[in-house]
Amino acid sequence: MPHEFGPAGLAEQVWRAAAALPHRRLLAVSSADGGVGRSTVVAALGSLLALAVPEAVVAVDANPRAWGGLGERVGAGSGSVWDALRELPRLRSRADVERWTRKGPSGLLALAGEVEVSRYRHPPNHAEAMAVVEVVRQWYPLVLLDLMMAEIRGVWRVLADASVALLVARATPDSIQHALRLLTYQQRIRTPHTPAVPVLVVVSTSPRTPGEVRAVLRQAAGVAAAVHPIPYDPMLAVAAPIDARLLAKATRRALLNLAADVLRRCAPAPTVSTDGAS
Ligand SMILES: Nc1ncnc2c1ncn2[C@@H]1O[C@H](COP(=O)(O)OP(=O)(O)OP(=O)(O)O)[C@@H](O)[C@H]1O
Ligand SMILES: [Mg+2]
Repeated sequence: MPHEFGPAGLAEQVWRAAAALPHRRLLAVSSADGGVGRSTVVAALGSLLALAVPEAVVAVDANPRAWGGLGERVGAGSGSVWDALRELPRLRSRADVERWTRKGPSGLLALAGEVEVSRYRHPPNHAEAMAVVEVVRQWYPLVLLDLMMAEIRGVWRVLADASVALLVARATPDSIQHALRLLTYQQRIRTPHTPAVPVLVVVSTSPRTPGEVRAVLRQAAGVAAAVHPIPYDPMLAVAAPIDARLLAKATRRALLNLAADVLRRCAPAPTVSTDGAS
């Protein structure tokens, strides 16, 4: 267990939960608005989880556009989610997938978004990206999904069916309110299984949190399953690969809390005893 994460008791709890993580968990991350910090949250939380989970953890960029995205927050590389889509019929093992992933500083693997648009390559659309995810996830205990904004029904469905759904908002009253409206809608969606309980992650992209944000956050606590503020961090403000171990202490602590919550929600529901024992 790396010494960078504390408090020690919580870090130990996270590492134990990560070691016991059931297979094929999907952590879906979306938002009501663009540019709020989705890719940053996927890369930062993914960086921590890649340290804690004994097996490989994969993040997939499912945004249908050719700029920004997960690639620049994980690391350089030439493969992308487009390559995985093109090779989909031939993906038969982790090794086949890992021909196209890039590796972050703490070991997070990522199928980055495609940044070329040509006759031969283009960013996959939502359905194509999800076809890749369905194949890839069978070989990994945990896949993190950097989804586009939750504007189309397909994205809402993925959030509802995920093991854990995160909605990211920026720490402004407007952004949080937009996310709360989406949360309310998402909670009404019916799926064949129990929908994931949405968790709200509120990212500060400036060092000061205004008083009115704190008031809306209190309101959010009554709507979302949980609210996790992520503080402003100068290392998260630059478009560079993220190593969770190098972030500010308050950021590491916030990510550890978020990881503990995510892993708790990934755990199988306790079996109910039928023999009358309590
Ligand atoms: N905790 C933080 N501290 C400082 N800056 C942050 C933090 N989180 C995110 N940012 C900055 O906010 C901006 C938006 O982040 P990001 O690209 O992750 O958002 P996004 O929701 O994925 O955007 P898009 O809709 O373009 O995909 C980036 O410049 C990023 O560096
Ligand atoms: Mg993004």
